[in-house]
Amino acid sequence: MTMRKPFIAANWKMNKTLSETEEFLSQFVPEVKNEHDRDIVIAPPFTSLPLAAEKLRNTNIALASQDVFYEEKGAYTGEISPLMLADIGCKYVIIGHSERRQFFSETDEIVNKKVKTAKKAGLGVIFCIGETLDERETGKTLEILEREIEKGLDGHIDPMEMVIAYEPIWAIGTGKTATPGQAQEVHAYIRKKLEVLYGNKADELCILYGGSVTPDNIDSLMACNDIDGALVGGASLKVDSFASIVKFRR
Ligand code: PGA
Repeated sequence: MTMRKPFIAANWKMNKTLSETEEFLSQFVPEVKNEHDRDIVIAPPFTSLPLAAEKLRNTNIALASQDVFYEEKGAYTGEISPLMLADIGCKYVIIGHSERRQFFSETDEIVNKKVKTAKKAGLGVIFCIGETLDERETGKTLEILEREIEKGLDGHIDPMEMVIAYEPIWAIGTGKTATPGQAQEVHAYIRKKLEVLYGNKADELCILYGGSVTPDNIDSLMACNDIDGALVGGASLKVDSFASIVKFRR
């Protein structure tokens, strides 16, 4: 077994109003207060961040945002800078989620700029990569991941302030999880690839799996050697299901 500390993160996507955020956190915080041997992270929508920061202060749960812009300030209507996120108490930011790449035309270059400014502001990065069904079926999975890693992390980014989330796009929100075997195979490949870039440090890096993670499949995913945590969408929206994912057993 690895020495890497498990890392379980909720990605709420475009869900939950302020009152729903309040209700969730009031129940969830006491529910997981004894889980000290794992990192627990929640990424609510931007509008809920200040409230969530308040509710999570002095708890064992860290706050993340779901995206960030790559400039510190200026005339960028509608955008949010890493400085603003750090200022309200965000510890992490999700960058390069496949929905951002798919629906908002984020390229590897944009993702790379975001990673760099987020790091400069002291935010931990949850860096997402993953292949589409078509790419998997045509045997391009590893090539796609290699490109996303090389371009997205270009510029000597210290891996110690980052976690990687492998999310096969065909498994996101579809109920089709990669089997633990399929996920493990890719995770091991990603770690090898990171060794080329970072040497021994790659061994300490957390690699999360994402895509239809549920209370039912978390234990078998976490039993795999190179799976160090999960990025959870749908199943993170209910207190019971996210709490039981957080409380997985190996
Ligand atoms: P899902 O989403 O758990 O709903 O499949 C995961 C993600 O997109 O981060």
